[in-house]
Amino acid sequence: MNKDSALPDAPQPDTLEIGLRDGSISRKVFIKTYGCQMNVYDSARMSDALARDGYEPTEDMEEADLVLLNTCHIREKAAEKVYSALGRLREMKKRKAADGRDMMIGVTGCVAQAEGEEILRRAPAVDVVIGPQTYHRLPVALRRAKEGQRVVDTEYAIEDKFEHLPIAEATKIRARGVTAFLTVQEGCDKFCTFCVVPYTRGSEVSRPVAQIVEEAQKLVDGGVREITLLGQNVNAWHGTGPAGEAWSLGDLLYRLAEIPNLARLRYTTSHPRDMDDRLISAHRDLRTLMPYLHLPVQSGSDRILKAMNRRHTAAEYLALIEKIRAARPDIALSGDFIVGFPGETEQDFADTLRLVEEVNYAQAFSFKYSTRPGTPGAELKGQVPEEIKAERLERLQALLLKQQHAFADACVGKVVDILLEKPGRMPGQLIGRSPWLQSVNLDAKASQIGDIINVRIIGTSTNSLFAELL
Ligand code: SAH
Ligand code: SF4
Ligand code: F3S
Repeated sequence: MNKDSALPDAPQPDTLEIGLRDGSISRKVFIKTYGCQMNVYDSARMSDALARDGYEPTEDMEEADLVLLNTCHIREKAAEKVYSALGRLREMKKRKAADGRDMMIGVTGCVAQAEGEEILRRAPAVDVVIGPQTYHRLPVALRRAKEGQRVVDTEYAIEDKFEHLPIAEATKIRARGVTAFLTVQEGCDKFCTFCVVPYTRGSEVSRPVAQIVEEAQKLVDGGVREITLLGQNVNAWHGTGPAGEAWSLGDLLYRLAEIPNLARLRYTTSHPRDMDDRLISAHRDLRTLMPYLHLPVQSGSDRILKAMNRRHTAAEYLALIEKIRAARPDIALSGDFIVGFPGETEQDFADTLRLVEEVNYAQAFSFKYSTRPGTPGAELKGQVPEEIKAERLERLQALLLKQQHAFADACVGKVVDILLEKPGRMPGQLIGRSPWLQSVNLDAKASQIGDIINVRIIGTSTNSLFAELL
């Protein structure tokens, strides 16, 4: 990091309390979120931190005084999207300046962390660049930017962020809906050879139990019925229980399940190596814990899994799935896959298809391997040609889609509990969520949002289910 643009290393706990300097002037912030759910969560936290400086959120970039791009670096395309968006924003900034209006531009998230100063060079309109662990210093950075400096702040002392970011008030939580994310763990120490996350999010940090319980309670007080615990490696979360005993994610779930009126719990994303017995028993014991598990395997070939540094075999993954299904037979499984990792042969790919056949996923995400500079995978020999990646992805997705449809079709006729989340597209319609994370359309009154009701599934469409009231 360039010293001139560095912020003081020590966080200033009272900086967020300074509040609005120029009195009652209201400013508008537009936040565009790319990437994973952790970015969605962070965007909300940034919005809450900025509220103290008088910034109100807007959905209309045109009226924004501040535009933040909360970015993702996971694949090449994701990062490039940011630069093209910044090109368009530069034009908008010029146009607004010609009308005598200021617009500041900030880049946050994983591209900010990975590229730092480089963003200022490539995108001259950018005022501030802030990494994922320094959002509590965003208000300070913006003040400095207002004074004409271009600020890069990506250096952090672990755990600062959550100590200093304010939690939204109940009214704001209420306005965001009946489901919420709650980050309990950040960063990753696994170093899969394809992945940038250990470099952009840093090493694994778990938030303390008390902090998590307090935030969960506030969400529930604000009307939230379902909380999804987040972490790049959420099941690596660890903490300390009330008697000083070591807790894993399973213990945390048992604790959160005690919060009155918290109807549903989920967590994502998990690594197979951290799926311990306590977590599996939570799936058996807790009705609050929804029967859905996103457990990425990436490949079904032991050779590729080894080259990816996943540190488990296909057989171990399958044995784990069996154990989880024994504990919770109706659990829906989801996964992530990468095709065309360096050295992947047709035989390796066939092993992946076989594993998919064996697991039978309710849902899955699959990607062509994307070379990430700085990761060990980028240096490997045997990079797979683009056409082969595309062809394998097509075959894998056809199989996964078939399984997804079969899972949805099997729901037809079942009576299930759904959480009514938000208005549907048609008047008089609501969208709810099944225990297995499917969207469910049905006719119901808006006043029922937040209720969990028993419905009969009567049909399916591409990405959702239809239901009728009983
Ligand atoms: N922490 C999660 C994954 C985070 S990234 C886990 O360990 O499973 C989400 C998904 O993006 C990964 O599971 C992987 O399938 C995909 N991914 C990550 N890096 C990639 C790369 N370089 N090319 C293609 N897909 C990638
Ligand atoms: Fe990336 Fe692997 Fe860590 Fe997941 S476990 S975030 S894929 S390095
Ligand atoms: Fe992307 Fe960073 Fe999430 S790279 S997937 S936004 S952790």
